[in-house]
Amino acid sequence: MYLKLLIFFLVGQTSVYAASPSAVPARHGLVTSTSALASQAGVDILRQGGNAVDAAVATAFALAVTYPAAGNIGGGGFALVRLPDGRVFSLDHRETAPGSASRDMYLDTEGEIIKGLSLKTHKASGTPGSVDGLLELHGRFGVLDRKAVIQPAIDLAQGGFPLSWQMAESFNRMLRLAPDFPATRKKFSNAGEPFQAGDIWKQADLARTMRAVSEQGRQGFYNGWVAAAIAAEMRSGDGNITASDLQQYRSVWRSPIKGEYRGYQVWSMGPPSSGGVLLVQMLNMLEAYDVKSMGWGSAEQVHLMVEAERRSYADRARHLGDPDFWDVPVALLTSKQYARQRMSNFDASQATSSHLVGAGESNHESEQTTHFSVIDKDGLMVSLTTTLNSGYGSRLVIPGTGILMNNEMDDFSIKPNTPNQFGLLGMEANEISPHKRMLSSMTPTLVTHQGKPFLITGSPGGSTIITTVLQVIVNLVDHGMSIADAVALPRFHHQWLPDVIYYGRYGLSPDTIAKLRSKGHELKQRSVLGDANSIHIVDGVRYGFKDPRHEGQAVGY
Ligand code: GLY
Repeated sequence: MYLKLLIFFLVGQTSVYAASPSAVPARHGLVTSTSALASQAGVDILRQGGNAVDAAVATAFALAVTYPAAGNIGGGGFALVRLPDGRVFSLDHRETAPGSASRDMYLDTEGEIIKGLSLKTHKASGTPGSVDGLLELHGRFGVLDRKAVIQPAIDLAQGGFPLSWQMAESFNRMLRLAPDFPATRKKFSNAGEPFQAGDIWKQADLARTMRAVSEQGRQGFYNGWVAAAIAAEMRSGDGNITASDLQQYRSVWRSPIKGEYRGYQVWSMGPPSSGGVLLVQMLNMLEAYDVKSMGWGSAEQVHLMVEAERRSYADRARHLGDPDFWDVPVALLTSKQYARQRMSNFDASQATSSHLVGAGESNHESEQTTHFSVIDKDGLMVSLTTTLNSGYGSRLVIPGTGILMNNEMDDFSIKPNTPNQFGLLGMEANEISPHKRMLSSMTPTLVTHQGKPFLITGSPGGSTIITTVLQVIVNLVDHGMSIADAVALPRFHHQWLPDVIYYGRYGLSPDTIAKLRSKGHELKQRSVLGDANSIHIVDGVRYGFKDPRHEGQAVGY
């Protein structure tokens, strides 16, 4: 009740927020992430005088401690930053293929995929980029001392924190399925016994690693004892990452992708993520249609969006890859004219067969990665998505360091025209080469309106990330929803192949499903889609919303 009154007082009766009590309002700064402790770490940094970049770096290091399924220092990610003067920057700290990687490294002599090799082995990891990326972000835009922004994570690792029921369950499930890596068992069990909710989880090794980074900067991770431990474990387990790969790793500032949707400016991540290109491409396709009058959840709207998704994901497989190795036609794919041309065979009454757009097979989908959003009192915005790829990555913990390694190599097209764990097909653009970055779907996104901050969003969910972000934007811009409704409402997803509309629980009514089937669509219900921790800015007030599909919290002041 108090919150309702406060929101009413802050934004007035006519606002969408009159009926949306669950977003957290803040006048100054706000962080929303999948860990309450990590959000709090970010806000504490804001209160100490740090800006949104300081807070984002503190939140990201804290997530490596409090949300080990996807928060990480052994993986990689992408960040978008918008300064109060309107300049937007994007940082690619995606992992790179080790120097000894080769195109067919996951295939046997018959050319078939060696099951599990790119997923749960030492060979599954790319050279981690998170530490370099976070330090690069901080070095360029942060105002507080490096030690100050890493200290909250060190304290959480050293002092420990009580495990939630979900985390204890998740650790125990992970250990049941993980290969027998001794340091992994040590880190995720209570002296060999399963963890219970409420147990205090301490990570002394990880604290020591983070202290090395705090004191020595990138040297503390990419050289010295931490790098030596990673290289030694890789050698002993037939992995590929060497000391030289670690030393050579550098994150890269890339041009952000910019789009325009019904008068809103959309900024997102360019290649080697496919997120920004596909997001802008799909928005361009939708812009020609009156989505608002179709009505949220109508068969007409779902059909239109699915047809845009189908065409864009087909382009992803053919055209998207690491721009340092492959000429990605970004300008073409994100142009309004191309969108019109691509939708010229759209039929409002009938599904277009994906096999007329391309060819391929299906696979199952995994759901990890994590996204958080930050804004400070000056309107500096940060959108950051980070991942180990699968939940807990390769499950390999490097002994003595507490570092959980990624299995990002599986995001390469390890065999042409064969789907990866997200069911995504790949072609030559995303084949493995030494030091190349594997294609991603991560879509950290910022939206502005009339030059002012409007939205910070992004999501985990592998291939479903991009359609999750698309739906958050359409819900806000076309349907005028509050951020709580825009994020919490059920979602759907189509990715060209498999030629199926996936929809979340209670996502589509039976008559909508019947109408879509009558147009020729196949539909399947599936588990949660996304975790879009977002911030919506209305008349200067920041509304943070933690996606209710997962744990975590929006914290503001
Ligand atoms: N590993 C998930 C992604 O990068 O999209």
